[in-house]
Amino acid sequence: MTQSTATDPAADRALKARHRAMWALGDYPAVAIDLIPDLGPALVAATGVRAGDRVLDVAGGTGNAAVPAALAGADVIASDLTPELFPAGREFAARHGATVAFEEGDAEALPYADGSFDVVLSCVGVMFAPHHQRAADELLRVCRPGGRIGLLSWTPTGFVGELFRTMKPYAPPPPPGAQPPPLWGDEDHVRGLLGDQVTDVVAQRQTLGVEQFPTPEAWREYWKTVYGPTIAVYRHMAGDPEEVAALDRDLTDLAVRYDRGTGSTVLDWEYLIITARKQG
Ligand SMILES: C[S@@+](CC[C@H](N)C(=O)[O-])C[C@H]1O[C@@H](n2cnc3c(N)ncnc32)[C@H](O)[C@@H]1O
Repeated sequence: MTQSTATDPAADRALKARHRAMWALGDYPAVAIDLIPDLGPALVAATGVRAGDRVLDVAGGTGNAAVPAALAGADVIASDLTPELFPAGREFAARHGATVAFEEGDAEALPYADGSFDVVLSCVGVMFAPHHQRAADELLRVCRPGGRIGLLSWTPTGFVGELFRTMKPYAPPPPPGAQPPPLWGDEDHVRGLLGDQVTDVVAQRQTLGVEQFPTPEAWREYWKTVYGPTIAVYRHMAGDPEEVAALDRDLTDLAVRYDRGTGSTVLDWEYLIITARKQG
Protein backbone atom coordinates (compact mmCIF):
# COMPACT_ATOMS: atom_id res chain seq x y z
CA MET A 1 0.00 0.00 0.00
CA THR A 2 1.29 3.45 -0.88
CA GLN A 3 1.93 5.78 2.04
CA SER A 4 -0.23 8.90 2.31
CA THR A 5 1.11 12.18 3.63
CA ALA A 6 0.21 12.93 7.26
CA THR A 7 -1.83 16.08 7.95
CA ASP A 8 -2.73 17.78 11.19
CA PRO A 9 -6.29 16.51 11.95
CA ALA A 10 -7.58 19.92 13.08
CA ALA A 11 -6.22 21.61 9.94
CA ASP A 12 -7.75 18.86 7.82
CA ARG A 13 -11.16 19.26 9.48
CA ALA A 14 -11.01 23.03 8.87
CA LEU A 15 -10.06 22.47 5.22
CA LYS A 16 -12.89 20.00 4.69
CA ALA A 17 -15.34 22.40 6.35
CA ARG A 18 -14.26 25.09 3.87
CA HIS A 19 -14.69 22.64 0.97
CA ARG A 20 -18.12 21.65 2.19
CA ALA A 21 -19.18 25.31 2.43
CA MET A 22 -17.81 25.93 -1.07
CA TRP A 23 -19.76 23.07 -2.66
CA ALA A 24 -22.92 24.25 -0.91
CA LEU A 25 -22.62 27.67 -2.59
CA GLY A 26 -24.61 28.53 -5.68
CA ASP A 27 -26.60 25.75 -7.27
CA TYR A 28 -24.48 22.66 -7.91
CA PRO A 29 -27.61 20.51 -8.46
CA ALA A 30 -28.37 22.65 -11.54
CA VAL A 31 -24.92 21.88 -12.98
CA ALA A 32 -25.37 18.16 -12.37
CA ILE A 33 -28.89 17.98 -13.67
CA ASP A 34 -28.80 20.52 -16.53
CA LEU A 35 -25.23 20.30 -17.86
CA ILE A 36 -23.58 16.98 -17.03
CA PRO A 37 -26.38 14.39 -16.59
CA ASP A 38 -24.83 12.19 -19.29
CA LEU A 39 -21.63 11.62 -17.32
CA GLY A 40 -23.09 9.43 -14.55
CA PRO A 41 -24.68 6.96 -17.00
CA ALA A 42 -21.45 6.93 -19.07
CA LEU A 43 -19.44 5.97 -15.99
CA VAL A 44 -21.97 3.34 -14.89
CA ALA A 45 -21.92 1.77 -18.36
CA ALA A 46 -18.11 1.83 -18.62
CA THR A 47 -17.78 0.16 -15.21
CA GLY A 48 -20.35 -2.50 -16.06
CA VAL A 49 -22.59 -2.02 -13.03
CA ARG A 50 -25.05 -4.94 -12.80
CA ALA A 51 -28.15 -5.85 -10.85
CA GLY A 52 -27.23 -6.94 -7.34
CA ASP A 53 -23.89 -5.08 -7.20
CA ARG A 54 -23.24 -3.22 -3.96
CA VAL A 55 -22.11 0.19 -5.25
CA LEU A 56 -20.54 3.19 -3.54
CA ASP A 57 -20.62 6.51 -5.43
CA VAL A 58 -17.86 8.57 -3.77
CA ALA A 59 -18.30 12.36 -3.75
CA GLY A 60 -21.60 11.50 -5.36
CA GLY A 61 -23.24 14.93 -4.95
CA THR A 62 -26.83 14.71 -6.13
CA GLY A 63 -26.42 11.14 -7.40
CA ASN A 64 -25.33 11.68 -11.00
CA ALA A 65 -23.73 8.19 -11.05
CA ALA A 66 -25.65 6.71 -8.11
CA VAL A 67 -29.07 7.06 -9.76
CA PRO A 68 -28.20 5.27 -13.02
CA ALA A 69 -26.38 2.61 -10.98
CA ALA A 70 -29.56 2.07 -8.93
CA LEU A 71 -31.63 1.96 -12.12
CA ALA A 72 -29.30 -0.83 -13.33
CA GLY A 73 -30.49 -2.81 -10.30
CA ALA A 74 -27.58 -2.14 -7.94
CA ASP A 75 -27.80 -1.47 -4.22
CA VAL A 76 -26.32 2.03 -4.03
CA ILE A 77 -24.93 4.48 -1.49
CA ALA A 78 -24.05 8.01 -2.63
CA SER A 79 -21.52 9.40 -0.18
CA ASP A 80 -20.50 13.08 -0.12
CA LEU A 81 -18.80 15.69 2.03
CA THR A 82 -21.67 18.14 1.43
CA PRO A 83 -25.01 16.93 2.80
CA GLU A 84 -26.57 20.24 1.68
CA LEU A 85 -26.75 18.55 -1.76
CA PHE A 86 -28.75 15.55 -0.54
CA PRO A 87 -32.29 16.99 -0.69
CA ALA A 88 -31.80 17.71 -4.42
CA GLY A 89 -30.24 14.26 -4.79
CA ARG A 90 -33.21 12.58 -3.12
CA GLU A 91 -35.58 14.49 -5.41
CA PHE A 92 -33.51 13.51 -8.46
CA ALA A 93 -33.58 9.85 -7.40
CA ALA A 94 -37.33 9.94 -6.69
CA ARG A 95 -38.02 11.57 -10.07
CA HIS A 96 -36.31 8.61 -11.75
CA GLY A 97 -37.88 6.00 -9.47
CA ALA A 98 -34.45 5.05 -8.07
CA THR A 99 -33.60 4.06 -4.51
CA VAL A 100 -30.31 5.57 -3.34
CA ALA A 101 -29.04 6.06 0.22
CA PHE A 102 -27.35 9.46 0.58
CA GLU A 103 -24.73 9.44 3.38
CA GLU A 104 -22.24 12.04 4.56
CA GLY A 105 -18.58 11.08 4.25
CA ASP A 106 -15.12 12.37 3.41
CA ALA A 107 -13.53 10.54 0.45
CA GLU A 108 -10.25 10.54 2.40
CA ALA A 109 -11.78 8.73 5.41
CA LEU A 110 -14.75 6.74 4.15
CA PRO A 111 -17.05 5.50 6.94
CA TYR A 112 -17.25 1.92 5.60
CA ALA A 113 -15.51 -1.35 6.44
CA ASP A 114 -12.82 -2.84 4.21
CA GLY A 115 -14.20 -4.66 1.14
CA SER A 116 -17.80 -3.45 1.61
CA PHE A 117 -18.56 -2.81 -2.08
CA ASP A 118 -18.46 -4.70 -5.38
CA VAL A 119 -18.09 -1.43 -7.28
CA VAL A 120 -16.68 1.93 -6.23
CA LEU A 121 -17.46 4.84 -8.56
CA SER A 122 -16.70 8.52 -8.63
CA CYS A 123 -17.95 10.97 -11.26
CA VAL A 124 -15.99 14.27 -11.24
CA GLY A 125 -16.05 13.77 -7.48
CA VAL A 126 -13.05 12.21 -5.74
CA MET A 127 -10.85 14.48 -7.88
CA PHE A 128 -11.84 17.31 -5.51
CA ALA A 129 -10.47 15.60 -2.38
CA PRO A 130 -7.19 17.41 -1.75
CA HIS A 131 -4.90 14.48 -0.88
CA HIS A 132 -4.95 12.19 -3.86
CA GLN A 133 -3.13 9.17 -2.48
CA ARG A 134 -5.20 9.16 0.69
CA ALA A 135 -8.41 9.22 -1.36
CA ALA A 136 -7.19 6.53 -3.77
CA ASP A 137 -6.24 4.31 -0.83
CA GLU A 138 -9.77 4.70 0.53
CA LEU A 139 -11.41 3.79 -2.80
CA LEU A 140 -9.28 0.64 -2.86
CA ARG A 141 -9.86 -0.21 0.80
CA VAL A 142 -13.67 -0.22 0.62
CA CYS A 143 -13.72 -2.19 -2.66
CA ARG A 144 -13.77 -5.97 -2.23
CA PRO A 145 -10.96 -8.05 -3.75
CA GLY A 146 -11.95 -8.68 -7.38
CA GLY A 147 -14.35 -5.70 -7.32
CA ARG A 148 -14.33 -2.82 -9.81
CA ILE A 149 -13.37 0.83 -9.61
CA GLY A 150 -14.69 3.39 -12.10
CA LEU A 151 -13.52 7.00 -12.12
CA LEU A 152 -14.55 9.87 -14.37
CA SER A 153 -12.47 13.06 -14.09
CA TRP A 154 -11.97 16.29 -16.01
CA THR A 155 -8.62 16.28 -17.80
CA PRO A 156 -5.90 18.87 -17.05
CA THR A 157 -5.78 20.06 -20.67
CA GLY A 158 -9.54 20.04 -21.28
CA PHE A 159 -11.99 22.88 -20.62
CA VAL A 160 -12.50 22.33 -16.88
CA GLY A 161 -8.76 21.74 -16.29
CA GLU A 162 -8.12 25.06 -18.06
CA LEU A 163 -10.89 26.67 -16.01
CA PHE A 164 -9.07 25.79 -12.78
CA ARG A 165 -5.77 27.05 -14.23
CA THR A 166 -7.48 30.28 -15.25
CA MET A 167 -8.93 30.86 -11.77
CA LYS A 168 -5.73 29.97 -9.88
CA PRO A 169 -4.02 33.41 -9.94
CA TYR A 170 -7.20 34.97 -8.52
CA ALA A 171 -7.74 32.38 -5.75
CA PRO A 172 -6.12 32.15 -2.32
CA PRO A 173 -3.06 29.85 -2.37
CA PRO A 174 -3.99 26.19 -1.78
CA PRO A 175 -3.07 24.77 1.63
CA PRO A 176 0.23 22.88 1.84
CA GLY A 177 -0.11 19.33 0.52
CA ALA A 178 -3.33 19.93 -1.44
CA GLN A 179 -3.07 18.69 -5.03
CA PRO A 180 -4.81 20.09 -8.15
CA PRO A 181 -8.10 18.30 -8.94
CA PRO A 182 -7.54 17.86 -12.71
CA LEU A 183 -4.50 15.63 -12.07
CA TRP A 184 -7.10 12.85 -11.68
CA GLY A 185 -7.73 13.32 -15.39
CA ASP A 186 -4.15 12.31 -16.16
CA GLU A 187 -3.98 8.58 -16.84
CA ASP A 188 -0.42 8.12 -15.55
CA HIS A 189 -1.25 9.93 -12.32
CA VAL A 190 -4.24 7.67 -11.64
CA ARG A 191 -2.32 4.52 -12.58
CA GLY A 192 0.33 5.64 -10.07
CA LEU A 193 -2.30 6.22 -7.34
CA LEU A 194 -3.93 2.81 -7.84
CA GLY A 195 -0.54 1.12 -8.22
CA ASP A 196 -0.21 -2.64 -8.15
CA GLN A 197 -3.47 -3.09 -6.25
CA VAL A 198 -5.40 -3.17 -9.53
CA THR A 199 -5.42 -5.06 -12.82
CA ASP A 200 -7.33 -4.66 -16.11
CA VAL A 201 -6.92 -0.89 -16.19
CA VAL A 202 -8.78 0.69 -19.12
CA ALA A 203 -8.58 4.42 -19.81
CA GLN A 204 -10.59 6.38 -22.35
CA ARG A 205 -10.79 10.10 -23.05
CA GLN A 206 -14.13 11.48 -24.18
CA THR A 207 -15.80 14.85 -24.53
CA LEU A 208 -19.09 16.24 -23.36
CA GLY A 209 -20.60 18.84 -25.69
CA VAL A 210 -22.07 21.70 -23.64
CA GLU A 211 -24.61 23.47 -25.85
CA GLN A 212 -26.90 25.22 -23.38
CA PHE A 213 -25.42 28.72 -23.79
CA PRO A 214 -25.96 31.17 -26.66
CA THR A 215 -22.66 32.99 -26.04
CA PRO A 216 -19.42 32.58 -24.01
CA GLU A 217 -20.60 35.45 -21.79
CA ALA A 218 -23.88 33.64 -21.07
CA TRP A 219 -21.89 30.59 -19.90
CA ARG A 220 -19.68 32.82 -17.71
CA GLU A 221 -22.61 34.57 -16.04
CA TYR A 222 -24.38 31.26 -15.38
CA TRP A 223 -21.17 29.67 -14.06
CA LYS A 224 -20.53 32.61 -11.69
CA THR A 225 -23.87 31.99 -10.02
CA VAL A 226 -24.01 28.18 -9.84
CA TYR A 227 -20.53 26.65 -9.48
CA GLY A 228 -19.13 26.77 -5.91
CA PRO A 229 -15.40 26.86 -6.75
CA THR A 230 -15.92 29.81 -9.12
CA ILE A 231 -18.25 31.66 -6.75
CA ALA A 232 -15.63 31.23 -4.00
CA VAL A 233 -12.92 32.83 -6.15
CA TYR A 234 -15.14 35.82 -6.98
CA ARG A 235 -16.00 36.21 -3.29
CA HIS A 236 -12.30 36.15 -2.42
CA MET A 237 -11.67 39.22 -4.58
CA ALA A 238 -14.95 41.02 -3.93
CA GLY A 239 -14.21 44.72 -3.48
CA ASP A 240 -11.53 44.70 -6.18
CA PRO A 241 -13.45 45.61 -9.35
CA GLU A 242 -10.32 45.47 -11.52
CA GLU A 243 -9.61 41.88 -10.53
CA VAL A 244 -13.27 40.96 -11.03
CA ALA A 245 -13.20 42.49 -14.51
CA ALA A 246 -9.92 40.68 -15.31
CA LEU A 247 -11.31 37.28 -14.28
CA ASP A 248 -14.50 38.03 -16.24
CA ARG A 249 -12.34 38.65 -19.32
CA ASP A 250 -10.21 35.54 -18.73
CA LEU A 251 -13.27 33.29 -18.34
CA THR A 252 -14.85 34.70 -21.48
CA ASP A 253 -11.57 34.18 -23.38
CA LEU A 254 -11.46 30.58 -22.16
CA ALA A 255 -14.96 29.90 -23.45
CA VAL A 256 -14.20 31.67 -26.75
CA ARG A 257 -11.09 29.48 -27.19
CA TYR A 258 -13.11 26.29 -26.70
CA ASP A 259 -16.21 27.38 -28.61
CA ARG A 260 -16.69 25.31 -31.74
CA GLY A 261 -20.25 26.48 -32.32
CA THR A 262 -21.54 28.43 -35.26
CA GLY A 263 -24.28 30.87 -34.31
CA SER A 264 -24.48 29.51 -30.74
CA THR A 265 -21.82 28.38 -28.29
CA VAL A 266 -20.72 24.73 -28.17
CA LEU A 267 -18.05 23.88 -25.61
CA ASP A 268 -16.27 20.52 -25.56
CA TRP A 269 -15.43 19.45 -22.00
CA GLU A 270 -12.90 16.62 -22.05
CA TYR A 271 -12.88 13.91 -19.41
CA LEU A 272 -11.08 10.67 -18.69
CA ILE A 273 -12.81 7.45 -17.62
CA ILE A 274 -10.60 4.89 -15.89
CA THR A 275 -11.90 1.49 -14.91
CA ALA A 276 -9.91 -1.16 -13.07
CA ARG A 277 -10.32 -4.37 -11.13
CA LYS A 278 -9.00 -4.66 -7.59
CA GLN A 279 -6.56 -7.54 -7.24
CA GLY A 280 -8.39 -10.64 -5.98
C1 LIG B 1 -18.29 18.44 -9.20
S1 LIG B 1 -19.16 17.76 -7.86
C2 LIG B 1 -19.58 16.12 -8.49
C3 LIG B 1 -20.79 15.53 -7.85
C4 LIG B 1 -21.37 14.30 -8.56
N1 LIG B 1 -20.48 13.18 -8.49
C5 LIG B 1 -21.74 14.60 -10.00
O1 LIG B 1 -21.30 13.88 -10.90
O2 LIG B 1 -22.50 15.54 -10.20
C6 LIG B 1 -17.89 17.41 -6.70
C7 LIG B 1 -18.40 16.80 -5.44
O3 LIG B 1 -17.30 16.42 -4.63
C8 LIG B 1 -17.68 16.57 -3.29
N2 LIG B 1 -16.46 16.58 -2.49
C9 LIG B 1 -15.47 17.51 -2.47
N3 LIG B 1 -14.51 17.14 -1.61
C10 LIG B 1 -14.89 15.94 -1.07
C11 LIG B 1 -14.32 15.08 -0.12
N4 LIG B 1 -13.15 15.34 0.48
N5 LIG B 1 -15.00 13.95 0.20
C12 LIG B 1 -16.21 13.67 -0.37
N6 LIG B 1 -16.79 14.48 -1.26
C13 LIG B 1 -16.14 15.60 -1.62
C14 LIG B 1 -18.46 17.86 -3.29
O4 LIG B 1 -19.26 18.02 -2.16
C15 LIG B 1 -19.25 17.72 -4.59
O5 LIG B 1 -20.49 17.10 -4.37
